[in-house]
Amino acid sequence: MATEVNTIGVLTSGGDAPGMNAAIRAVVRQSINKGKKVMGIRRGYAGLLAGEIIEMTSHDVSDTIGKGGTLLQTARCPEFKKEEVVREAAKICAKHGIEGLVVIGGDGSFRGATELAKHGVNTIGVPGTIDLDIGCTEYTIGFDTAVNTAIEAIDKIRDTSTSHERCSIVEVMGRGAGYIALWCGIANGAEDVLLPEAYDYDEQKIVDHIIEGRKKGKQHHIIINAEGIGHSTSMAKRIEAATGIETRATILGYMQRGGSPTAKDRVYASIMGAYAVDLLCEGKSNRVVGYHNGEFVDFDIIEALKMSKGISQQYVDVCLSLNFR
Ligand code: ADP
Ligand code: F6P
Repeated sequence: MATEVNTIGVLTSGGDAPGMNAAIRAVVRQSINKGKKVMGIRRGYAGLLAGEIIEMTSHDVSDTIGKGGTLLQTARCPEFKKEEVVREAAKICAKHGIEGLVVIGGDGSFRGATELAKHGVNTIGVPGTIDLDIGCTEYTIGFDTAVNTAIEAIDKIRDTSTSHERCSIVEVMGRGAGYIALWCGIANGAEDVLLPEAYDYDEQKIVDHIIEGRKKGKQHHIIINAEGIGHSTSMAKRIEAATGIETRATILGYMQRGGSPTAKDRVYASIMGAYAVDLLCEGKSNRVVGYHNGEFVDFDIIEALKMSKGISQQYVDVCLSLNFR
């Protein structure tokens, strides 16, 4: 059974995601509402190790809910995989009185949180990543904003692609997962969508599809390519050579991680941040907050890390059947 928590720490770790500020704000304000002291830890686990820890007030998170990025900043900290480093981090938490810690990040960050829990820090994970690639949850902070940013950009690329009668390959983020690509594929009505979970590396099929579209009067051909497949620039060169149609590659990159969060990211991140504090106040530890079947829920972190969800076949089928043929 976890000890009573009087001081709660909060950090963001791994890649930033729009909505992380809403989650930080919720942790800070919910902690204060419950009579707890709350400490902000800068630059993820790296900042924790460096003792970059300050007490936060309700005012510190004013005017942050609509801002992109993370006000606490974030980092990757490879040395956190070493046991002695985690032990040192737990000592630093103790020195600052931190008995409970909310870790906002992805799977990797949750692994760090479980290691810290082994050394007596009560930890709760909140899923923050634009990639949506966390098995235990149907929602992760930042995905909605990232997809909306990407579809706006792709609509613009389509305009110029049509004017020049070009084929465009647009590479979107997602690490090894194709969720962003699939949503853009449906939302932008792309002619082809390449997902790491399903790609068969048959470029001839794409070439045939482009030529067929051109014969039917299609003035552009948008291919959404997931980062997990990558190589968009060389793919564009090969497709241009095979079709004789000018083909350009655009890698959307980090713009997908920035910007003001959507209403969904602000609201869900707020609920998840407050939920994490409630769990700590109930004496829970080593849990991760998730969204499942229309409800906010929590799982044991170890169990959560074992869960996988894969890509929805229904979404893939709709995407394919509504493609131009
Ligand atoms: P994400 O949290 O988005 O999945 P990473 O995989 O880069 O991002 O992980 C973020 C950080 O979490 C790492 O830089 C490291 O500090 C910590 N981390 C990742 N894996 C582990 C692990 N197995 N043990 C301890 N800490 C880890
Ligand atoms: O996890 C979010 C993400 O943006 C992935 O889509 C991408 O593969 C990765 O982070 C890029 O990470 P970095 O910021 O280290 O370049």
